[in-house]
Amino acid sequence: MIPRTPEPEELMDRADQAEAYAAADFSEANSLFIELLTGAAAGDPGARVLDLGCGPADIPLQLAQRFPNMHIDAVDGAQAMLDLADRALDGLPALRPRVRLVCDLLPCAALPSHAYDAVISNSLLHHLSNPALIWQTITRSTKPGALVLVMDLARPDSVADVDDLVGRYAADAPTVLRQDFRNSLFAAYRVDEVEAQLAAAGLSQLRVDSVSDRHLAVSGRID
Ligand SMILES: C[S@@+](CC[C@H](N)C(=O)[O-])C[C@H]1O[C@@H](n2cnc3c(N)ncnc32)[C@H](O)[C@@H]1O
Repeated sequence: MIPRTPEPEELMDRADQAEAYAAADFSEANSLFIELLTGAAAGDPGARVLDLGCGPADIPLQLAQRFPNMHIDAVDGAQAMLDLADRALDGLPALRPRVRLVCDLLPCAALPSHAYDAVISNSLLHHLSNPALIWQTITRSTKPGALVLVMDLARPDSVADVDDLVGRYAADAPTVLRQDFRNSLFAAYRVDEVEAQLAAAGLSQLRVDSVSDRHLAVSGRID
């Protein structure tokens, strides 16, 4: 089993890095995320949603289009990412009143407490050297009964498995993205590690599943 190697930088705040990320095709992973969310919610995830580490906001924009009553606070610590999200919102002006972009670092102390019907996050967890921050943020921000979906990469067993996934999913990607993907696989947490994080955070009612050959997902409801 390979040890975890943290990402070189937690935030994706370089303009070239953010641009390369936003230009990449994450449609397969994003569709999986939305499918898992609607499945876990049995339909509508709720009126007030918080997205942690939203990046260029592809997922919140898709959700806001699909659910006309949904208001989303989309948070990222990298202004470079939020600038791209803002540009995407320029093309979807009708969504502006319902998608609020917030530049903040976890634990996002300025956000309201016990206010959200759902907290979602895709591909943030592996960036965090202190993963307890995401679980603390979720615990503080959610209403009782709120839905949680956190999806991320899962660290492979071996370097050969990392190379195999990079070859399968990023062979034709620009160098910066291929290196990002490789770093992310080494930085990702494993299912057993996430289960331990949840137990330490008092969130053992959430379940952790392997949901693809490279992703895990934490889902369930806040007590
Ligand atoms: C890999 S991107 C994922 C973006 C988006 N959720 C998606 O699905 O495409 C991870 C994002 O988390 C942000 N991030 C990393 N650490 C953070 C922190 N401590 N607080 C807030 N945002 C953070 C990064 O800046 C980056 O935009």
